Amino acid sequence: MNAGIISISKYVPDKVITNFDLEKTIDTNDEWIRTRTGIEERRIAEGEETSDLAYKAAQKALKSAEITADQVGLILVATVTPDRAFPSVACQIQEKLEAKNAAAMDVSAACSGFIYALATAKQFVESNAYDYVLIVGVEKLSKVTDWNDRNTAVLFGDGATAAVIGKVSEGRGILSFELGADGTGGKHLFLNDDRYISMNGREVFKFAVRQMGESAVSVIEKAGLTKEDVDFLVPHQANIRIMEASRERLELPEEKLSKRIHKYGNTSSASIGIALSDELEAGKIKEDDIVVLVGFGGGLTWGAAVIKW
Ligand code: ACO
Repeated sequence: MNAGIISISKYVPDKVITNFDLEKTIDTNDEWIRTRTGIEERRIAEGEETSDLAYKAAQKALKSAEITADQVGLILVATVTPDRAFPSVACQIQEKLEAKNAAAMDVSAACSGFIYALATAKQFVESNAYDYVLIVGVEKLSKVTDWNDRNTAVLFGDGATAAVIGKVSEGRGILSFELGADGTGGKHLFLNDDRYISMNGREVFKFAVRQMGESAVSVIEKAGLTKEDVDFLVPHQANIRIMEASRERLELPEEKLSKRIHKYGNTSSASIGIALSDELEAGKIKEDDIVVLVGFGGGLTWGAAVIKW
C-alpha cells in the first residue's frame, strides 16, 4: 500500500500587507509587483514565531486526520526560518502537541522542503517503521527579509501547512516522487551575513522554469502516466510566470493550475501545502484526481510528486 496524505491544513497569520502598503515604504508599485510576480498581498506574523505557526497548522491536521498526537511516529518540519538552530521546530512542536512517541527533526531544503518532507515520510510509512508521520512546511520569512530591498521585500510572506501521512487504500497516495539538488547554484539564493535573503532573481527564474518543467514531466513518467492524465498542478507559489511556464510544459488548461500566490506571496516550504489545502477546501481537487506537486528553492533544490487523491 502507498503512503498518502490523510489530511492537510494551513495556518496563516492575520496581518495582511498589501502591495499598496509596500508602495509607502519602498520604491515599488502595485502594478509592477502584480504583473511581474502575481502577488497582491502577503501575511506577516507579529508576536508569533515559526514554531507557533507550525503548531497551529499541526493541530488542525491531526484533528482532521482523526488521530491523536501519540499515534505520530515522526515529525518532520521543513523550514529555513526556525526559531533557533536548535532545538528544532520539530522538537518544539513535539512538546506542544504532547506527541510523546514521535521522533522529531527539521528538514532544510528551502522552498522544496515540503516535497522533501513528503518523500521522506513516504519511506518511513511504506517501510512500516511508523503508522503516521506528521509533516509541516513553515516559514517566517519576514524575519529574514530586508524590508528596504525592493528586489526581495515584495516577494515573501509567512505561513504554515501541515499534513498527516499514512497508508491509504490500494492504488492511491504518492505514486512517484523526484528530489534533486545542485549546490553549484547556491550562490544565486542564500542567507547573507546580515541574515537577509540575497537573490539573483534572473538566475533563479531561469533555473525554476527549466527545472520545474523537467521534474513535473519526469514524475508523471515515473508514475506510469501521461500529461493527459493530470487533473491538477500545484506548483511552488514563487512567481506566476514560473507557475504558468510549468502549466504550459504540461499542456494543461488554465483552470488546472493552482494559483494562490496573489494572497500569500512566496511562503517557501509552506507554499505548496497552503495552495493544496486551499484547493481542496474550494472543491477543486476531488477523489481519484491525479495531482502533480512541483517545487524548487534555495540550495538549489527541487522536488516533485504525483498523488492520486
Ligand atoms: N518594484 C519596481 N521595480 C523593480 C522592483 C520592484 N519591487 N524590483 C526590481 N525592479 C526593477 C529593476 O530594478 C529593473 O529595473 P531596470 O530595468 O531599470 O534595471 C526592472 O524592474 C526589471 O528587473 P528584473 O530583475 O529584470 O525583473 P524580472 O522580470 O526578472 O522580475 C523577479 C524580478 C520578480 C524577482 C523575478 O526575477 C523572479 O521572480 N525570480 C525568481 C525569484 C524566486 O522565485 N525566488 C525564489 C526564492 S525561494 C527561496 O528559496 C527562499
